[in-house]
Amino acid sequence: MARVFHATAGSSRTVRKRGGIVAGYLAPHPPHLVYAENPPQNEPRSTGGWEVLRWGYEELRRRLAAHAPDVLVVHAPHWITMVGHHVNCVPNPRGISVEPIFPHLFRYHYDFATDVDLAEAIVAEAADAGLVASAMRDPGVRVDYATIGALHLANPAWDIPVVSLSANNNPYFYSDAALDEMETLGAATARAIERTGRRAVLLASNSLSHLHWDREPDLPEDMGVERPFDHHQYAGDMELLQVVREGPTERLRTAVPKHIAATQAETKAGSLTWLLAAMGWPAIAGDVLAYGTVIATGNAVVEWVP
Ligand SMILES: [Fe+2]
Repeated sequence: MARVFHATAGSSRTVRKRGGIVAGYLAPHPPHLVYAENPPQNEPRSTGGWEVLRWGYEELRRRLAAHAPDVLVVHAPHWITMVGHHVNCVPNPRGISVEPIFPHLFRYHYDFATDVDLAEAIVAEAADAGLVASAMRDPGVRVDYATIGALHLANPAWDIPVVSLSANNNPYFYSDAALDEMETLGAATARAIERTGRRAVLLASNSLSHLHWDREPDLPEDMGVERPFDHHQYAGDMELLQVVREGPTERLRTAVPKHIAATQAETKAGSLTWLLAAMGWPAIAGDVLAYGTVIATGNAVVEWVP
């Protein structure tokens, strides 16, 4: 009797998953993008809006899935810790994340898993590197909307464990002085990922130029009024993105502080510098998947594959 095998091409091969940082994304968090998508977790309803940025995120999701990471590590500007760098070590954060300026757009019910081993390893590596670092273990601390926004937009299925890092600064400081520490934090993050053998994707949750309107249209998603704050802010974003697209990332060591000075950019919270430092400032170009404004702020979705 003949033996019949039903095998898919390639299925007999053993695929060994490589650890380390397999990709990094600039993944901005405007609550409007989540609102526009109408996910079941968010209470407010919209008629859409900001489609080009959301199409960029759809491409990010396809690429992220192909990288098959064990964990998403996110650094976000609105978990502000004035003393030290904190890492969320709560195993299963659950609650409602509310955007304080736009509570009518973002009231998001979250429930996700933390990679606690990696989170604790990042705390230890950061402390060993001389940073003030702390493991946050209070399940009552509400997860900020910049962390939730980036994570939802990158992976709305929430089926990949997370490590969430705070911003040890205030993004509204008129300074880029905190960026040096982000180099150290990035290197510590990379060592922790190597030590734990994780296959990690990093998310830097920040916008670019960050001046925005102080009036909202009756329909928040009215794209008839969506535009850059002014030409200077737009041109500053394009100058930075030109460097991103040309590479190598080393040029961003000077381009990011220059952009911060020119546009009051949200990159001053350090997320992008942390991401590039963790990847070791690779000699590659970034792939800009989308750019668009949200209430006049500039936002780019970018991939780097080291
Ligand atoms: Fe923000």
